[in-house]
Amino acid sequence: MRVCRAKIDLLQEVQPGAFLLGLAARGISHEARPGQFYMLKIGEEADPFLPRPFSWLRRGPQASCGGDRVEILFQVVGKGTARLARMPLGEELQVLGPLGRGWEFDTGGFPLLLGGGIGAASLISLLEGLPPKLRLDSWALVGARSGNQLWCGEEMSRMGARVMLASQDGLKGFHGTVLELLKHEQDSLLRAGTEVFACGPWEMLRQVALWASSKGLPCQISVETPMACGVGVCLGCAVRLSGSRGYVRACQEGPVFRAEEIEWD
Ligand SMILES: Cc1cc2nc3c(=O)[nH]c(=O)nc-3n(C[C@H](O)[C@H](O)[C@H](O)COP(=O)(O)OP(=O)(O)OC[C@H]3O[C@@H](n4cnc5c(N)ncnc54)[C@H](O)[C@@H]3O)c2cc1C
Ligand code: FES
Repeated sequence: MRVCRAKIDLLQEVQPGAFLLGLAARGISHEARPGQFYMLKIGEEADPFLPRPFSWLRRGPQASCGGDRVEILFQVVGKGTARLARMPLGEELQVLGPLGRGWEFDTGGFPLLLGGGIGAASLISLLEGLPPKLRLDSWALVGARSGNQLWCGEEMSRMGARVMLASQDGLKGFHGTVLELLKHEQDSLLRAGTEVFACGPWEMLRQVALWASSKGLPCQISVETPMACGVGVCLGCAVRLSGSRGYVRACQEGPVFRAEEIEWD
């Protein structure tokens, strides 16, 4: 983990209200692993006071200054992200990261990636980290409210994965949620060794966890619990573990967990 000042070298709206952000700084992504995240302090003013967490999307093309860079995909939802979307190229942000425990992939299984909304961003780093042959052998199901919000799915397709899209307005792909698509296609998707990786809204993750358990499939999920510090101090990101094992901090022990570790009810 490191703190640095990074220069905005890319800010592009890739789908309505969602921006691809490039940040350049020496060493910023040297230690980054798929599924980790960064905390960004947006602007120098007191408001917004707290930094905001965003998943590491990928490194992207290296900065011409000979430094290093990260790309992040963010959706405008409130004052911090609205402010970020208006920042000029060349502006500097304070960045903390990479943080947290990312995806684990060492079993040699067949990845089945399930992404809901902007949560699919975290799966792009996973896909990029897979050996090329396995990437081509992966399935990715990506859903969004509207067919014009499926940039992540289209990007995964460009990266070589086999992709199915779902939109709730029916504009693109399957008409419905990613879970409905999953249940519709499960017979053709499942094979021995399938391993599930999911990121999206809590209710989607809960349903995915139930589904994977009913099929006996190993499943990892990444939670996007709101975070204030990102480094394990404030306890604001507590996630309840199953049984009587208490709570863990999503920013330290997560954000990726094995689905059976979590108390979903
Ligand atoms: C580990 C992690 C990774 C994340 N990765 C991404 C990413 O790659 N791209 C992305 O766009 N977003 C991501 N998020 C969510 C992102 O951090 C929030 O959308 C952001 O902090 C909102 O800031 P804001 O100031 O614009 O909104 P605020 O003004 O703080 O809030 C606006 C509204 O959004 C809600 N909100 C804020 N944070 C969250 C959250 N974490 N989950 C659900 N609702 C929330 C608030 O309750 C409020 O209703 C991630 C969150 C975590 C914890
Ligand atoms: S965000 Fe502060 S402990 Fe996790």
